[in-house]
Amino acid sequence: MGTMRRTHSCNDLTSANIGEEVILMGWVLRRRDHGGVIFIDLRDRYGLTQVIFNPEINAEIHAKAHQLRSEWVIAVRGKVAARLDGMANKKLATGEIEVFIDELRILNIAETPPFPLDEEGDVSENLRLQYRYMDLRRPEMASNLIMRHKAVQSIRTYLNDNEFLEVETPMLTRSTPEGARDYLVPSRVNAGKFYALPQSPQLFKQLLMMAGMDRYYQIVKCFRDEDLRADRQPEFTQIDMELSFMSEEQIIEITEGMIAKLFKDTLNIDVSPPFARIKYDEAMDRFGTDRPDIRFGFELVDLSEIASTCSFKVFRSTVDGGGTVRAINAKGCAGFSRKDLDVLTDYVAQFGAKGLAWVKMKADGEWQSPIAKFFSDEERASMTKALDAEEGDLLFFGADKSSVVFPVLGELRVELARRLDLLDKKKFNFVWVTDFPLVEYDENRKRFQALHHPFTAPKEADVDKLETDPAAVYSQAYDLVLNGTEIGGGSIRIHQRDIQARVLAALDIDESEANDKFGFLLRALELGAPPHGGLAFGLDRLLMIITGSDSIREVIAFPKTQKATCPLTEAPASVARKQLTELYLRPDWKES
Ligand code: AMO
Ligand code: AMP
Repeated sequence: MGTMRRTHSCNDLTSANIGEEVILMGWVLRRRDHGGVIFIDLRDRYGLTQVIFNPEINAEIHAKAHQLRSEWVIAVRGKVAARLDGMANKKLATGEIEVFIDELRILNIAETPPFPLDEEGDVSENLRLQYRYMDLRRPEMASNLIMRHKAVQSIRTYLNDNEFLEVETPMLTRSTPEGARDYLVPSRVNAGKFYALPQSPQLFKQLLMMAGMDRYYQIVKCFRDEDLRADRQPEFTQIDMELSFMSEEQIIEITEGMIAKLFKDTLNIDVSPPFARIKYDEAMDRFGTDRPDIRFGFELVDLSEIASTCSFKVFRSTVDGGGTVRAINAKGCAGFSRKDLDVLTDYVAQFGAKGLAWVKMKADGEWQSPIAKFFSDEERASMTKALDAEEGDLLFFGADKSSVVFPVLGELRVELARRLDLLDKKKFNFVWVTDFPLVEYDENRKRFQALHHPFTAPKEADVDKLETDPAAVYSQAYDLVLNGTEIGGGSIRIHQRDIQARVLAALDIDESEANDKFGFLLRALELGAPPHGGLAFGLDRLLMIITGSDSIREVIAFPKTQKATCPLTEAPASVARKQLTELYLRPDWKES
């Protein structure tokens, strides 16, 4: 750069700087030649500035500017001038000015970029990830990372101001049961033994409460080897919190303060707590899911009773067999074509639907539907009334076990909203889901498993059902859902040794397995554990929603693909035989 020292960023200069001599550095976004004058949009993380090479000012430099290509890195010295009348660009912070250049240094050249950075092109995500450092030069991506930085600052400030202590917990640890597979790390100095990367700092944060730290937080990487989706990464970041001597109510209140500040600091939006609350059972009943999107209606309506006497065999036998018949009213959608209905039927099949009965509402409560004939006038009238249906509406029915009908109609609701463009990204509808069941039955393993994790406290009133009827025990767990995405979850924890043992027993984890896996926690519960609870937010998911992105990959600097690979570094990769044997791993594994 010689003696040149940058005086401003590419976003700084306004009409207040007119007449000043400035030095800017950055990347050439584009070069335009207009009647012998060369215009360059110079870009850095902060923004864009238009710089001009005029042959009449300096012919030699103008000639040099002819070489410039996209993504070359340059330093320029020049004088700030007002843009000509009518040439100002209101969309640009520097849109009122341009800089006439009389010194140019080429700091580095660049080959033709693998994809254009100045337009929303149809670039494959794989290519973007392979050249992520180029992708991140795009203003939208830089702004996502800047937003992420702001979000973390806001959260830290709030938690620091509220006496939370930031403590780091180990990355090389034992398996923490959050329900996913572990990433394992073989130990070189302990033959045949493995560390697990943490699925969350759950047990350590509880131990920190037992250590008297009172309020803890950590913005921390967690690792889960699970099937990836748009809102799931194998490594992701949690805002992890734990508090002592606090009720569920107090924890919710403190957390709402953090979220409110976060939305104010990042988007300048007032999300005004207290947020809505809904109990798990009601959420399932009305929305078919424990992460309801409450930006729109289409709620589920239970028609089992009316269907129990009808002559449509599918419905009647479902109710007779202990199943449920539910429906949603897609208001005003009677215009859907046969093809639309077929597409939706296919869509719900992936969630287990055996069919998708529908009714188009005509005038005077008349049903247009292949199944209309199976119902009496009274049955049709009762269903129409229950669904609040009127001319122009489209009704969808699901009949099956509730474990099928809920996800089918729950997903159909969201798909309808998507098609009808009801998912307004500028709306932020928070809802706490509370009163979860403590356990759920795992059909495959034929045993109960914790709905949250095994350290979640049962409701005090339900403790005596732990042995007799574990499925009827509710827990002190809570999730925060934003626009249908689970952004955070937590619970009051068990702080008494005997209750913890009883919950583990209810989960079919016997003494010896319990001691082997969590003996250290059980021991700590015997040595003066305070009542405590907490929760963790998914930072990536919060930012996905804040930035209006469709995937958490858009808010992570270097994310993994759906197959958990990194196209940039080509991780995961093979390693040398010697490295494997050093770790007591057999090097002769072959893909079969
Ligand atoms: P949980 O498993 O619900 O709770 O995780 C907390 C939050 O982390 C986010 N999250 C993820 N984000 C991206 N990719 C993933 N694979 C992923 N998995 C989870 C979600 C979720 O709400 N220890 C408990 C918290 C507690 O009880 O305090 C825990 O980890 O937004
Ligand atoms: P069928 O009598 O099987 O031709 O079904 C008549 C209508 O009911 C079709 O529109 C099917 O898609 C629908 N249907 C079939 N089974 C179910 C079910 N379990 N739940 C909801 N609709 C169904």
